[in-house]
Amino acid sequence: MLFGKNNRAHAEAPVGLVDLHCHILAGVDDGARDDAQMYDLIRLEYDCGVRHLCFTPHYNPAIFTPKPEKIAESFEKAKLFVSENLPDMSVYLGNEVFMRPDTVERLRDGSCRALGGTRTVLTEFSPSMTYDEMRLYVVKLLSNGKTPLLAHIERYEKLTEPKDIMELKSLGVKFQINTEAFSGPRKKFVSKLVERGIIDVVADDRHNHTRGNPDMAECYSFVAQKFGERAAHALFVSRPSSILNIIEK
Ligand SMILES: [Fe+2]
Repeated sequence: MLFGKNNRAHAEAPVGLVDLHCHILAGVDDGARDDAQMYDLIRLEYDCGVRHLCFTPHYNPAIFTPKPEKIAESFEKAKLFVSENLPDMSVYLGNEVFMRPDTVERLRDGSCRALGGTRTVLTEFSPSMTYDEMRLYVVKLLSNGKTPLLAHIERYEKLTEPKDIMELKSLGVKFQINTEAFSGPRKKFVSKLVERGIIDVVADDRHNHTRGNPDMAECYSFVAQKFGERAAHALFVSRPSSILNIIEK
């Protein structure tokens, strides 16, 4: 209950949320360690109202080197679990892609993936990267037909100038924040961006039972109370649905 006594976990979010950033696939990065934990975390997302879940294992060859076959095997297990136990849930596969000089080439040869077969790439930068370096990377992605969705932008200390954020927005860049951003050290900055309609997506970046808190339902409830139901629906349903090409019912 990070946001106060009126926000009980799983209590007030509608069914149909979209979570497009998580590390729930087992044994492929620093997220779920085994199949049992993966199934548990999928259920946790389901209990929060999530019905569209995109797995985004880290793609950063300097740190994580999962074999493509291991990712495919875990994804098949997750799909089977969902179809047998949670048939009204859909799952997708992507990566959280750490930006490197060869990223476009690695996307092209299939070493890493955009989100769920779309053109949108969930991107991560080194925390020390300057704005100009970030801009170069996103322009390269855009000029190769990809749409960058910048992951957890609240983390980048060098991405704070409104003019820089607006420049990226005008280029076609999309922005994601984590659920924890509303209670973190930059919560005022994040709130201003939400109020101005700059943020496209809230996701929980879930790695395990504790890293990924507050959960999607609790955060939806907080956003609905603070910014209005319309803003919550945009951030947790309609904008991420549009990114994954999901047709809302
Ligand atoms: Fe992540």
